[in-house]
Amino acid sequence: MPWNSRPRAKLIVMAGVLSVVLGFALPKPLPAQTPENSGRSITDEQSALKDPAIEKRVDTLLKKMTLEEKVGQLAQYSSGAPTGPSTGNPDYPNMISRGEVGSLFNLDSAHAANEYQHLAVDKSRLHIPLLFGLDVIHGFRTTFPVPLALASTWDPSIVERYARIAAQESSAAGVRWVFSPMVDIARDPRWGRIVEGAGEDPYLGSVMARAYVRGYQGKKLNDKESVAACVKHFVGYGAAEGGRDYNPAEISEHTLREIYLPPFYASIREGSVSLMSSFNTLNGLPATANPFTLTQILRKEWGFNGLTVSDWTSVGELVPHGIARDKAGAAQKAINAGVDMDMVSDSYHENLADLVKHGKVSQARLDEAVRNVLRVKFALGLFEDPFTDESREMQGALPTERVEAARLAAERSFVLLKNSVTGGRAILPLTVESGTIALIGPMGDSAQNILGPWAGHGRAEDAVTLRVALEQRAGAGKVRYAKGGEPQTASDAEIQAAVETAKQADIVLLALGEEAAEQSGEAASRAHLDLPGRQEELLEKVTATGKPVVLLLFSGRPLPLPWAFEHVPAIVAAWFPGIQAGPALARVLFGDVAPSGKLVVSWPRTMGQIPIYYNALNTGRPADGYDLTHPPRNSLEKYISRYIDEQNTPQFPFGFGLTYSSLEYSQTEVDSAKLSAAALNANLRRDASSNRTQATVSATVKNTGNRAVDEVVQVYVRLIGTSMSEPVRKLVGFKRVVLASGESKRVSFPLSADAFSLWDIQNNLRVEPSHVQLWISPDSSRGLPAEMDIVE
Ligand code: BGC
Repeated sequence: MPWNSRPRAKLIVMAGVLSVVLGFALPKPLPAQTPENSGRSITDEQSALKDPAIEKRVDTLLKKMTLEEKVGQLAQYSSGAPTGPSTGNPDYPNMISRGEVGSLFNLDSAHAANEYQHLAVDKSRLHIPLLFGLDVIHGFRTTFPVPLALASTWDPSIVERYARIAAQESSAAGVRWVFSPMVDIARDPRWGRIVEGAGEDPYLGSVMARAYVRGYQGKKLNDKESVAACVKHFVGYGAAEGGRDYNPAEISEHTLREIYLPPFYASIREGSVSLMSSFNTLNGLPATANPFTLTQILRKEWGFNGLTVSDWTSVGELVPHGIARDKAGAAQKAINAGVDMDMVSDSYHENLADLVKHGKVSQARLDEAVRNVLRVKFALGLFEDPFTDESREMQGALPTERVEAARLAAERSFVLLKNSVTGGRAILPLTVESGTIALIGPMGDSAQNILGPWAGHGRAEDAVTLRVALEQRAGAGKVRYAKGGEPQTASDAEIQAAVETAKQADIVLLALGEEAAEQSGEAASRAHLDLPGRQEELLEKVTATGKPVVLLLFSGRPLPLPWAFEHVPAIVAAWFPGIQAGPALARVLFGDVAPSGKLVVSWPRTMGQIPIYYNALNTGRPADGYDLTHPPRNSLEKYISRYIDEQNTPQFPFGFGLTYSSLEYSQTEVDSAKLSAAALNANLRRDASSNRTQATVSATVKNTGNRAVDEVVQVYVRLIGTSMSEPVRKLVGFKRVVLASGESKRVSFPLSADAFSLWDIQNNLRVEPSHVQLWISPDSSRGLPAEMDIVE
């Protein structure tokens, strides 16, 4: 959440006076890639911005604009509360009438938007409409599960449906631009914003990124119900050192291209018309002043012609970063690097005209930035119809189909981590015979917490808690609730009362976790990822009653809880499930539907393992099975990459999730023994969807249990003998498969050249001669690979 307000802005100026200009060093020489020679470009799919008629209108308008009016299009301010205080100069009405504002965000109604729009359209000289934005992260009013949970569904159709509903509700409130999706790859759960993304994998992240963009932007961007997507934060923000928010990121160009850039590329390819630069430095240079990423990669390599916006005051923050002495210097660096619009910091508004007059920013660069803004405004149809029909704005109760969509998303997002068998039967699902239920814990009845962080216009009164849903489901007489304190504090009496409640029940559901708004999301990095407050004590005391316990973890990240994983018989990662948390959990707990979510982040055993991610490099001394459970027997086995006091493996691997049945995977098979590198390179498009099948990999998956389930089947690849070290596995495909009890299905994945490619030693995307291993498996750690070769 933005921290800025006026006092902070003053600080920036003071810091600027003291700071030293570090120069405008370009990072290392740029690789000579262009859309043409790299065999991949963005053209057709960005059709909303490739319209010659729009270009003509942009040209005509640009010719009429004064320098000040051009600068005005590049200034954005926050005018409202949802994600922070009103900012900068609050004289928006007059500024808008003078054509000095291009975009406002954080307004709270269509009426407010229309009032400002009238000023822009009726009073400003050129009648250019404003573009209204908002952080719609997992719902405008219909609050869905947080993005990390949405990704855990491994179901892009769920994400697309979410985004369409969010677009309909946002646009009805006058918002035609959402600051989403966040596609930052995150390998460190200390970072609070891991909750906003799709986890640690670039392939899954790309699939999800595309689904968000499709849903937000719809089939036509100028449809009144469509909104412009804004993919963020470009780039490397998720790699903040130590998981501390806003901290520097150090990422080699190779890793940037392999891991961090793909979801951005995918979003742009899907047609995202805007992109937000990030707060962090990337290899020493702030991302908001980075011409390598913002111009070389984004514009020249990818051919992006949409709008780039800074993050909240990230232009002004170039001063405390130490690469500008003052806001004029900051504005110069940001716009020259490629940031078109200045969010909140006022640096462009105050300085850009002078910078152009003095030749520090070229007229051509200014015009290009303005074009990028106008192009999006034209593509949204704002010039034809700048106002929002206020009668569209949602009043009253939420429509049933939206509530159902939120429930389905939540149901599919839960990950069953543990389900022990006691007395001959697994604890979950519950049955009527399970008897009386003690629901214990601060998350059991907290409407605000289940909404999750960044819930925007989400309302607690729309949220159905687990307590309410259980009472409906099992009957109020069968459910006893004890809060056991607040998430971060509890008294002895509260804990004691909870333990007593547990003793009187037949089964205990413990709803514990992080406080959504304070402990997850932006500026919520945590150095201790245990259960906050006295919840661990509550957990241990309740478990000590000997009653069967199901732990429901509400969190925006995986929490290393070694005691719980050893002693509690059943555990579900519920994340922050949104308005339908209660009904969705009740349905899964009672087995109306089997759990089908899988982890999109590796779940660490301890803090000391972080960062831990499945797609790691092997090292020259891989542990290969030696760990605490199989300690090395001699000195040869000792000097390997492992901890002497912890296992190397995570508590649960990426892709992991149990269900209420058992599944068997056959040996993976691939239909060719050899492929030609040359043929693969000729077909390499970096976009599997429009590519030819090069090999098909298959396995049979059998449901050996006695109930129908959905299984997310995953396919991984490893390349050996390449010019750069490749991960021990990387995800290249997945599928949700429905399997009746006893049913076997042959699951096949057609793989395109893309699946066999890597960013090579020259930082070019290529397929190299190599030995290939392929796994079809239930998660990133299991199965035996099929083998094949790629020859010259
Ligand atoms: C966040 C962005 C967000 C922006 C506007 C910033 O603090 O990093 O993700 O879009 O604020 O609210």
